[in-house]
Amino acid sequence: MTILIVGGSGFLGAELVRRARAAGHAVVATYASGPGAAGPDGWRRLDLRDAGGVDDVMAEVRPRVVVNASSGREDSAVTAAGPVQLAMVAVRQGAGLVHVSSDAVFSGRRGRYDESAPPDPVTPYGAAKAAAETGVLAVHPKAVVARPSLIIGHGRSRHEQHVRDLASGVAEGALYTDDIRCPVHVDDLAAALLELAAGDAAGVHHLAGPDAVSRYELGVLIARRDGLDASRLPVALRAESGRPGALDVRLDSRATRQRLRTTLRGARQFLRPGG
Ligand SMILES: NC(=O)c1ccc[n+]([C@@H]2O[C@H](COP(=O)([O-])OP(=O)(O)OC[C@H]3O[C@@H](n4cnc5c(N)ncnc54)[C@H](OP(=O)(O)O)[C@@H]3O)[C@@H](O)[C@H]2O)c1
Repeated sequence: MTILIVGGSGFLGAELVRRARAAGHAVVATYASGPGAAGPDGWRRLDLRDAGGVDDVMAEVRPRVVVNASSGREDSAVTAAGPVQLAMVAVRQGAGLVHVSSDAVFSGRRGRYDESAPPDPVTPYGAAKAAAETGVLAVHPKAVVARPSLIIGHGRSRHEQHVRDLASGVAEGALYTDDIRCPVHVDDLAAALLELAAGDAAGVHHLAGPDAVSRYELGVLIARRDGLDASRLPVALRAESGRPGALDVRLDSRATRQRLRTTLRGARQFLRPGG
């Protein structure tokens, strides 16, 4: 089938392109600033803030399914309005849509969140992601909204880079012991997203690993895997830092994991040295 990967030049997008091609799909990928290293059948420039551009790319590619792996951070024109525009065009063309959201839609006040938990974002980024989810599902009820937690893998994520920078003293900052997430490996996430894209799933799906770890434990696991001196990692409490954002967000992905063939490994497993 023909798959359009929006944000194919990004970290997750590149893995989606690679896997979809390996599975024999025809893959067209988009970028905003420049094509990435992945090798789709074709690249298109697309800025989700440009409704006409969304129309043009969709009309030309005519995908069976679109996976939206773009990120506009807290810019709601990209992160909230853009995906809704994409969903409107997809539903008009009869195309499926898998929209990648985030665990940032939750405040952390509840700790553990399954797919039935109502979003209660506490940051502009989380609010934009939550608005996109609502809009996407309102206009395209058969769409999948997939919420990952921190995405890790191959040393290429910004989280792994941050740990390397802290361990080498290039960056200032600290890793928090009270900031808890359920990281997922980019390979597992991309495989799960493509499995959802190929099936008849709809609605909200959590795609996180089973291990709840603090940012500090995650940093130690990354440092050990990479042969870095974990004792050099600065440690702190986020609650004392004054930084806005959720502390403890544990995505409960059991319902989604039960319907998938893809295994979502936990951070303690996929970050084992040599693992
Ligand atoms: N990384 C994480 O830990 C994490 C955690 C939870 C959820 N997520 C979600 O997962 C998805 C992928 O994240 P990622 O880390 O792979 O992102 P990323 O590496 O920053 O890639 C972002 C992608 O979005 C494209 N993009 C930027 N502005 C755009 C615009 N105005 N219109 C269309 N495309 C635009 C970028 O294109 P250019 O490269 O050409 O600029 C790039 O392809 C995002 O939805 C993010 O919110 C990520």
